[in-house]
Amino acid sequence: ASTSVKLNTGAEMPTVGLGTWKSQPGAVEHAVEFALKNGYRHIDTAAAYGNEKEVGLGIKASGVPREQIFLTTKLDNPDQRNPAAALQSSLEKLQTPYLDLWLMHWPAPMTKDGKADKGHDWLQTWKDMEKLYLENPDKLKAIGVSNFSVAFLERLLKEAKVVPAVNQIELHPSCPQQELVDYCVSKGIVVTAYSPLGSDNSPLLKNPVVNKIAEKYSVSPANVLISLQANRPGVTVLPKSVTNERILCKQRLL
Ligand code: A2P
Repeated sequence: ASTSVKLNTGAEMPTVGLGTWKSQPGAVEHAVEFALKNGYRHIDTAAAYGNEKEVGLGIKASGVPREQIFLTTKLDNPDQRNPAAALQSSLEKLQTPYLDLWLMHWPAPMTKDGKADKGHDWLQTWKDMEKLYLENPDKLKAIGVSNFSVAFLERLLKEAKVVPAVNQIELHPSCPQQELVDYCVSKGIVVTAYSPLGSDNSPLLKNPVVNKIAEKYSVSPANVLISLQANRPGVTVLPKSVTNERILCKQRLL
């Protein structure tokens, strides 16, 4: 697999990044520091994960200069009516002057008490994100979306001034979504795979075919599953781990 993929902004996105969904605040600071000290240059978080502060501390503790790191966070559903304030909050928690990528987490505006916000259209949120991006190039290097299907992307692209740089979606052998990946690639949208192992207690790690390939190449089943996504053209991948030895998986990709 190539070590990075070019975004439609011209920036390079490292192919493998550390995922932090469900990484507890107490563990994620160390995981981010360890990953950066061991070659990772791409970290993915989200306001909704409740760990941006600790991700920021891990980046600081690693000693890796900010400009060498590709950092992504996401706009939370209940913040879709006020993206400017949400962006400021994420920048402060992460202790960073800018984001390499800011994603709309879901095309699903919600109220603060967790109900669907039927009075707000996510397309308006995208327009607000575009405005923030165009007016604040010092704070936002790229914007994109997450969990968007072809139908949602078609609706967005009809009115967008800025084509999303990325669509971050769930991808693994039980969820290949080839049609959606092909659509994104045809529009110049890089696809980022989350849950490449199939998430917690994944049956994929025990899958006989995955294990046979792992044995053949003397790597772990997780390596096979991460490599599978990393080798798809136009795709980057976010394995999540808070365990040192598993974080090192990236060093042995096929
Ligand atoms: P942990 O974070 O405790 O190391 P996904 O990336 O598909 O969301 O999967 C994340 C889950 O897979 C987490 O439970 C994580 O556990 C576990 N995991 C991460 N890396 C590996 C690995 N190399 N081998 C086995 N399980 C792993």
